[in-house]
Amino acid sequence: MTDQPSLYEGLTTTRAIRRYLPDDIPVEDLNDIMFAATRGPSGHNVQPFRFVVLRHTPEAANARSITARGFVEAWKSQRQEPAKDDPSRKARMARTMSHFVDNIAEAPVIVFALHDEARRGRDITAGASVYPACQNLLLAARALGYGGVITQWHHPVADELADALKLPEGVVIAATIPLGKPAGSHGPVRRLPLPDLVFENHYGERADWLQDPEGTRYTGG
Ligand SMILES: Cc1cc2nc3c(=O)[nH]c(=O)nc-3n(C[C@H](O)[C@H](O)[C@H](O)COP(=O)(O)O)c2cc1C
Repeated sequence: MTDQPSLYEGLTTTRAIRRYLPDDIPVEDLNDIMFAATRGPSGHNVQPFRFVVLRHTPEAANARSITARGFVEAWKSQRQEPAKDDPSRKARMARTMSHFVDNIAEAPVIVFALHDEARRGRDITAGASVYPACQNLLLAARALGYGGVITQWHHPVADELADALKLPEGVVIAATIPLGKPAGSHGPVRRLPLPDLVFENHYGERADWLQDPEGTRYTGG
């Protein structure tokens, strides 16, 4: 096991990981990751989340290949091919995204987070009872030396995937989460400055006790 970050460090440094080493995730680790995911909270503890896990098995091949088509299709309109020698952040991101969608079928593990609408309807609080489990999953993966990202790119092929995964009526894919050992690294995430996001008493009212830790990096910077 890798050195585990503290819980606080983990949750401020768990980045979206979209490039993976080819190493498999041992089932013992996968078990621990899924255990943590299923410890996520849900309204009234009704647990409307379910998960289907794809490893590199023959039975997973069809769903993997359908997923790959969905990812390429979903990213198509935003896809860019920057010049090979362009070192900018934008160009690096474009390369990462192309690599991500082109290689998603090879991700060591793909987890589909499902929402059973029969257990909790379709309103906003229903989804809010699934995504905490997804974040638990990512944080557990991070603790064990893996990384992943919540995605929505199953959308173009959602019906085909529902067939391939044998989803019952009313069970829908809420997120597709590839996982693997990061080819890059985790590190502090970039967000807006804290006082732009958190107010006191009234919306927009600055609180003088709010301060980003020294060295915080921001989006857009
Ligand atoms: C609800 C949700 C949907 C997302 N959908 C996608 C997606 O379809 N494809 C993707 O590559 N990343 C997706 N992401 C990842 C975000 O793009 C990423 O978390 C965000 O850009 C911040 O990057 P960071 O996590 O590395 O700080 C999604 C994240 C969330 C929470």
